[in-house]
Amino acid sequence: MSKKIYIETYGCQMNFSDSEIVASVMTSHHAKIAGSPEDADVILLNTCSIRDNAEQRVVNRLRALQHLRKRRPGLLIGVLGCMAERLKEELLEEKTPGLRVDLVAGPDAYRQLPELMADAETGQKAINVLLSADETYADISPVRYTPGGVSAFISIMRGCENFCAYCVVPFTRGKERSRDPRSVVTEARRLVAEGYREVTLLGQNVNSYRWKENGSGKITGFSELLGMVASVDPRLRVRFATSHPKDMSDELLHRMADHPNICKAIHLPMQSGSSEVLKRMNRKYSREDYLDRIAAIKRILPGCGLSTDIIAGFCGETEEEFEETLDLMDKAGFDFAFMFKYSERPGTRAAEKYTDDVPDAVKTRRLTAIIDKQQALSMESNRKDVGKTMEVLTEGPSKRSGQMMMGRTTCNKVVVFPDQGYQPGDYVRVKITGCSAATLKGESANED
Ligand code: 5AD
Ligand code: SF4
Repeated sequence: MSKKIYIETYGCQMNFSDSEIVASVMTSHHAKIAGSPEDADVILLNTCSIRDNAEQRVVNRLRALQHLRKRRPGLLIGVLGCMAERLKEELLEEKTPGLRVDLVAGPDAYRQLPELMADAETGQKAINVLLSADETYADISPVRYTPGGVSAFISIMRGCENFCAYCVVPFTRGKERSRDPRSVVTEARRLVAEGYREVTLLGQNVNSYRWKENGSGKITGFSELLGMVASVDPRLRVRFATSHPKDMSDELLHRMADHPNICKAIHLPMQSGSSEVLKRMNRKYSREDYLDRIAAIKRILPGCGLSTDIIAGFCGETEEEFEETLDLMDKAGFDFAFMFKYSERPGTRAAEKYTDDVPDAVKTRRLTAIIDKQQALSMESNRKDVGKTMEVLTEGPSKRSGQMMMGRTTCNKVVVFPDQGYQPGDYVRVKITGCSAATLKGESANED
């Protein structure tokens, strides 16, 4: 009898992409995807370790799921992804009473899931947290959550070797490795044939994508790969994330300018506006270097959408250093930001070398100031768009109102506009008539 698997995903886009690989591995072993945990024989949580609160969410969820065992004897609960890698056997040992996990698989062990499940069923220890130097799942065709969807992820590389001092990813996702460009292009072609209109190329640091061809020794870098994917179909929008400021080249910016279907949006995590803090973070660029990259983006791609990640209260951050972050935000003029309080992760360089010495209340105050600043910057950026007409790729009905559709501009701004019988995947020209800090509002300017 085929097993029903329920997969729940936490954390970054890469995890969502990995869950599609897990779904593919399992369905090709006769499993079915369940619609809810109540309906499943196996519940898999694909987890995130980036901050302590991300892990706490998963622990609470694991606790809440235990009652289903009473209803369904033989139910298996598994932990995948970064927490599997970070906590390893600890998860199987039921260190927290009543928090039972039957299966643990790290991000490079998903091909082994069917065997691990068989082991777990017979009560054996089911764990594989080996990290690989070459696994890219290139030959696995992901099973998409949203068949008939508009936008899909394509993972182009795995792992990270930058070892930013605060970050657990190099420990949980292992060595950086790139995927064969032909398999990336094949996947993009398949998505176009299935009706997708947008792909996002994913990696922890896509700018260091590098594929060396066996035999010829020819090297494909990220700019070339991006051009290859953009050439698959001029109607396919192409995005990518994430870029590291130290590797963001002018060549890439020119490549983006050359292809109208490469979206004009760059996610460039700044983390801090202080050169001293950036040095402690091991980011390998200074405040001036970051400003230089922002200037290059504005020069080569005028009007390009710009987003970032910012950490408040990293080890030793002084009031002056924090002020430099607010100042750099102003100078860059971000459209959007993900903003976090620093959370110490065991095993990272920061945890070993520095003291987490900014009091929580100070972190909170600084984070609030950063959020307020970003709110003002987003509002200012959106106000400038009022009156313009933009091409929007329709994603579906707006969450707030069924009469309205939502979609995104090339700059990755969300636009809400009246539904005039549009389908997800339609390109609509929208005249922007109003905005909030989070959304643009508009009306159709299609000429029919
Ligand atoms: N604490 C807070 N934020 C973190 N990030 C990564 N590690 C930590 C941490 N220990 C943030 C960074 C990164 C984003 C994905 O998460 O800003 O770019
Ligand atoms: Fe973490 Fe830095 Fe790698 Fe991003 S580049 S995943 S922040 S170590």
